[in-house]
This record gives sequence, structure tokens and C-alpha cells, in this order.
Amino acid sequence: MIYLNGKFMPIEEAYVPVLDRGFIFGDGVYEVIPVYSRKPFRLKEHLARLQHSLNGIRLNNPHTNEQWHTLIGQIIAGNAADDQYLYLHITRGVAKRDHAFPAGVSPTVFMMSNPLLVPPQELLLTGVPAITASDNRWGRCDIKAISLLPNVLLRQLAIDAGAMETILVRDGFLTEGAASNIFIVKNNVLLTPPKSHLMLPGITYDVVLELAQAHAIPHEVREIAEGELRTADEVLLTSSTREVMPIVSLDGKAIGDGKPGAMFKQLNQLYQQYKASTMRAGNSAVLSE
Ligand code: PDD
Repeated sequence: MIYLNGKFMPIEEAYVPVLDRGFIFGDGVYEVIPVYSRKPFRLKEHLARLQHSLNGIRLNNPHTNEQWHTLIGQIIAGNAADDQYLYLHITRGVAKRDHAFPAGVSPTVFMMSNPLLVPPQELLLTGVPAITASDNRWGRCDIKAISLLPNVLLRQLAIDAGAMETILVRDGFLTEGAASNIFIVKNNVLLTPPKSHLMLPGITYDVVLELAQAHAIPHEVREIAEGELRTADEVLLTSSTREVMPIVSLDGKAIGDGKPGAMFKQLNQLYQQYKASTMRAGNSAVLSE
């Protein structure tokens, strides 16, 4: 069951007019929210980031947070899996093709949910390969925009190379992955770049930094030069759907000893514990109990 503009329906019945500005211009924003045991993870933070993205494209939020909570609760209830991958998408609506904002147009609001498939245990034990590429995206990567063509092309480079992710470097510094945030480990210190217009402020990135803080894991948020990335002891990626994953090679060259390292193991364990605690106890994300 999906949601489109005020109605719930099977996905086969959902259509959007060809003049939707999402279709014509990629003029919209989105969110991906993991749902564990039917509870949306960090919903408050995801809705805050959605608001940030909407502000970034100067589009009014079509719903209050209370309305979002209700709609999200309904979509979760309407889908079978306990663990879901919730996708929320808002475009500037349907209008005659013209770059300038149309007047008096309602946004298109779409939500769908699919079963959430977290990375298989095997990949966490072996680690995954990544490649690097030059970050050729625009200057507002903090907006979770649906116009993802550069990310699509960059991610495909990884797939073509048999790798899991493309790690992006801009002007000699690490930004993020094509669809993830990146951490490195150097001399037992966890390092990640600061939030800026050049990367998406990841919700999982925040969780990992909070866990590092809470468990006295040495960490530093600062610019990371490409050379430091290439000579890191460990490299990790984070995202809502891939959680925390160990990257064990870059452009075909082993990172450290080519195996998932101690920092990954500790952070992954803490992340899984944290996730389990939010499922048991509920958190700000709990809808109605
Ligand atoms: N992508 N950076 C980019 C460019 C991303 O697309 C994502 C996530 C992240 C990680 O953010 P978070 O931890 O909030 O998921 C960082 C989602 C999962 C997607 O587009 O499917």
C-alpha cells in the first residue's frame, strides 16, 4: 500500500501526471526512514532534515509533523513487513513546463514502504570494496534532492567495478559516498568530515558520532585529505539502509590488513545495541502505543 496525494492505494494504481515537476525537472526532495519492528527510527530527526531540504528548495511543508506521524503510522500498518524501508517524496507539483516556480500549485506527496533488507552478516565479516571518484555534484548536497543523476552515475561506477560504494573526493578532501557518509580510522581515532553544503547530514552519521561520544571512543570531526583516506587504518560507510559497513579496499588496494577492523566491530555492535534498545523501549519516533 502506498500513499499519493491524500489517498492510500496499491502501487499499481498510483500514477503521476507527466507534467509533474518531479518528472520534468527533478524538482523535489525525499527522505528514507528505516522502520524496525514497526517503529520508525529517529523519526524526529528525519522530519527535521525533510524540513531543511524543503527550506533549501523553497517549498512549503505540505504537512505538520503530527500529520506526518499519522500518515507514516498508516503506511507502516498497511505493509506486511515488521522492518520496513520507508520512502517519502515531495515535488513542487504539476504545472505547465517553465523553470520558474508555478503559482497556486499543490505539491505532490508520495510515500511507499518496502521490506528493509539490512546488509547480510557475511558482508560485515568480509568487508566490501569501494572505489573513489571526483565529486562532481552541485554545491547543495545537504539538500536531499530527488534529482540524483550525479549520484546515480557515481554509484554505477562502483557497480561496474564490482565495488559496493563510490567514495567522493572534492578539491583533495573526502566529502561522502554516492549514497552514504564515510568515516575513517587513523591511529585508533575515528574521523569524519564536518557537515557542510558538500554532504548530506546523515542520520546514521549522527548516531555513530553520538555513540562514539557516549562510549568515549576517540573521535574528531574535521576535514580529511585524500591522502589520509588512502592511508587510513579503516574506512566505514554509514546509511539508513546499510547501517555501518566496513570498507576493506579502495580502488583495488587493501585498507589496513584488508579485513574489517576493531573500530568497525565496536561501532557495529554499539549500533545494533542502540537499534535494539529503541525497538524495546520506544523512542521519540514511537507513533502510538
Ligand atoms: N541515502 N549521503 C548520501 C548522498 C545519501 O544518499 C545517504 C543516504 C547518506 C546517509 O544518510 P542517512 O544516514 O540519513 O541514511 C549520505 C539513502 C539511504 C538513499 O538515498 O536511499
